Amino acid sequence: MAQKEVGIGLIGYAFMGKTHSNAYRQVARFFNPEVKPILRAICGRNEQNVKRAADQFGWESYETDYRRLLERKDIDIIDVSSPGNEHLPMAIAAAQAGKTVFCEKPLGNSFDEAKQMLDAVEKAKVVNMVCFNYRRVPAVALAKRMIENGDLGRIYHFRARYLQDWIADPNFPLVWRLQKEIAGSGTLGDIGAHILDLSAYLVGKLTEVCSMTETFVKQRPLQATSTGTEGLNAQASSEMGEVTVDDAAAFIGRFENGAMGVFEATRFAPGRRNFNTFEINGEKGSVAFNFERMNELEYFNAQDPTDRQGFRTINVNENDQPYSGIYWPAGHIIGYEHSFINTVYDLLQGHAQGKSPHPDFRDGAYNNGVLDTVVKASESRKWEAVPQV
Ligand SMILES: NC(=O)c1ccc[n+]([C@@H]2O[C@H](COP(=O)([O-])OP(=O)(O)OC[C@H]3O[C@@H](n4cnc5c(N)ncnc54)[C@H](O)[C@@H]3O)[C@@H](O)[C@H]2O)c1
Repeated sequence: MAQKEVGIGLIGYAFMGKTHSNAYRQVARFFNPEVKPILRAICGRNEQNVKRAADQFGWESYETDYRRLLERKDIDIIDVSSPGNEHLPMAIAAAQAGKTVFCEKPLGNSFDEAKQMLDAVEKAKVVNMVCFNYRRVPAVALAKRMIENGDLGRIYHFRARYLQDWIADPNFPLVWRLQKEIAGSGTLGDIGAHILDLSAYLVGKLTEVCSMTETFVKQRPLQATSTGTEGLNAQASSEMGEVTVDDAAAFIGRFENGAMGVFEATRFAPGRRNFNTFEINGEKGSVAFNFERMNELEYFNAQDPTDRQGFRTINVNENDQPYSGIYWPAGHIIGYEHSFINTVYDLLQGHAQGKSPHPDFRDGAYNNGVLDTVVKASESRKWEAVPQV
């Protein structure tokens, strides 16, 4: 019997538009999903650019208004890869049109928005998923497996830092990520959201947080005319504008299971490009991960004989490890794009089986709830309770 086809409609054609397009094209070449993705249409507001993206990324057609994607009967999954302020209207309309909704992180620009989005997918009973792709890096999946096996025993600490440096130059322009009305928050929602999601995946939920945030550069040159595709290569104009989001955020939190969480996110760490790291300490050992060495997991086993104890580096491309055999023979490493291919595979399986893969919109709403609480705590200078979802 021929494999059932599923039509994809993707909104956004720049950074995430490219990674998601690649994932849909590659996924059936490595995995054997129950449904085969067909790249029906990509959407963007600028016709010339979206047409070029459709050709380059291999889409059958393009649209300049996302509502057209929702009307099309040949599209089953809507992928929201636009900036944060567009997530709510797009995801809610997609759910109401009965489509499976795959939304980039953070789910909403606030907890309130995320709850509305959760409500919409639950009312419409549609499959939903948030693109926290780092969950599906093999080394992270191995850490998850080890924690579930009890290899680390009781967890005491989750300690994470997500460091970048692309706006450390004060003359870098005021792109959308530095504007609250578009991005919701700054570094906190952009990269802090990722380490927070990893903590939810690996350790559990936070009950309360205490925090500080800072905006080091309060005025920046406005962006010169945007084509919507330049991203980190944006050019500055001579006019100045106000930065309305955080440049850095640091927070501590208490997990439901009694573990302590320490989190730091900044784009002002010169030399740190995509330094997405965590270390987890438990009663039987520790694991440590650094995305800049994404094929490796550091592991310390406190039960090793005392004369040979020490952190070992596990190359997570070997037999029996998560995702082994999907791509290349043992020892042949993979990259950033594979985290998206792995994520899209689970999305397709979820669509085929009518079951939302993790992290779903409820997980995304929890994430937004913590982000809002971090902002609240930095303003109140007090411990603040994380809202229930
Ligand atoms: N999972 C990850 O690791 C990761 C990494 C980067 C960005 N993101 C998230 O992905 C989303 C997009 O970020 P990006 O880096 O791709 O941004 P980007 O600026 O590179 O691209 C945004 C795209 O959305 C399009 N767009 C904006 N408004 C639109 C509208 N109304 N209709 C149609 N298209 C519209 C723009 O033209 C552009 O093509 C954000 O939510 C961001 O937080 C996730």
